[in-house]
Amino acid sequence: MARFRKDNLWFQKLLLKWNKEKNKRKMPWKGEKDPYKIWLSEIILQQTRVSQGLEYYNKFIAAFPDVHQLARSKDEKIFKMWEGLGYYNRCKNLLVAARYISKDLDGKFPQTFEEIRSLKGVGMYTASAIASFAFDQPYAVVDGNVIRVLSRVFGIKEPLNSTTGKKKFTRLSQELLSKKQPGIYNQAIMDFGAVICKPAAPLCSVCPFNKKCFALQHDQVSRFPVNEKKISIRHRRFNYFIIEYKEKIAIRQRKGKDIWQYLFEFPLVETAKQMDIKKIILLAEKNKMLKKGMYHLISFSPLYKQRLSHQLIEGRFIRIRLKKKPGEKKDWLWTDAGKLKDYAFPVFINQYLKKE
Ligand code: ADE
Repeated sequence: MARFRKDNLWFQKLLLKWNKEKNKRKMPWKGEKDPYKIWLSEIILQQTRVSQGLEYYNKFIAAFPDVHQLARSKDEKIFKMWEGLGYYNRCKNLLVAARYISKDLDGKFPQTFEEIRSLKGVGMYTASAIASFAFDQPYAVVDGNVIRVLSRVFGIKEPLNSTTGKKKFTRLSQELLSKKQPGIYNQAIMDFGAVICKPAAPLCSVCPFNKKCFALQHDQVSRFPVNEKKISIRHRRFNYFIIEYKEKIAIRQRKGKDIWQYLFEFPLVETAKQMDIKKIILLAEKNKMLKKGMYHLISFSPLYKQRLSHQLIEGRFIRIRLKKKPGEKKDWLWTDAGKLKDYAFPVFINQYLKKE
């Protein structure tokens, strides 16, 4: 083990040299030492591109400069601010953790890896990032950037999503980590993956590892990292009913374990296939969303689409006006059309609302 570590010292040296001399990447959380701000940035960046996360990070830090202010805020306000970022469980967990730190820990962010890891929504990657950036503790981050860099440079062929692959990347990352400057090293390898060892069209001609890189030397850069199975994409059809009565529109909040948890939507008929409008309306009558003869069809939209990581959502918006005050529908909320903007909706619905 010790020999392996020593043999690989060149990697750390070249990476830190590149970081010092060539890395121009600027991001507001870089060099940050406040664990609260680091935690917030890492939760936002968990399934989000840096370019998109930036705006949200700045907005959150401006509104909630410390954990007490975030903890005190109402759920709905935070969800509204999170709108468009997706994976809303992150947002829910963010609030649980903020309230725990604010109340139970008196606002003092936990400092050991195990305590940080035990916060709601914090996994191995995020705990390593916080422990190394804020407290200079020697925990290597293993994210998509790191895996891409290491798989190419060291020619690791084990699939990144296999058990053996995960173990190998974790072990190698920990061995390569600079124990003297873990925070700087971790940020450097992520930056390197993002600006030089990019997924497509990496900048191999200016890469400091190009003489050592297994993938480049074997002309196999595009084959790394190896991914075991191709993810299958689930196709879903969402037919939304914009149901109006007088000046009000019916909306509901999504609950349960499906996508878009806690976001608002219109009454929905989900179908397995694309269907014509008449059939969709018949389904809405069948499941008692509409009552036969008690409404007018005003219009229906063209097809809208939203691609999520594992799903493709396709569907329409069907405008309906009710003739009579509807009977009580348990989870419908009647809201003024002008107030729709106060609720957090999925991107799929916002695309439609923006056009209306
Ligand atoms: N993605 C997640 N965390 C990041 C960070 N600190 N810098 C760049 N990209 C990241």
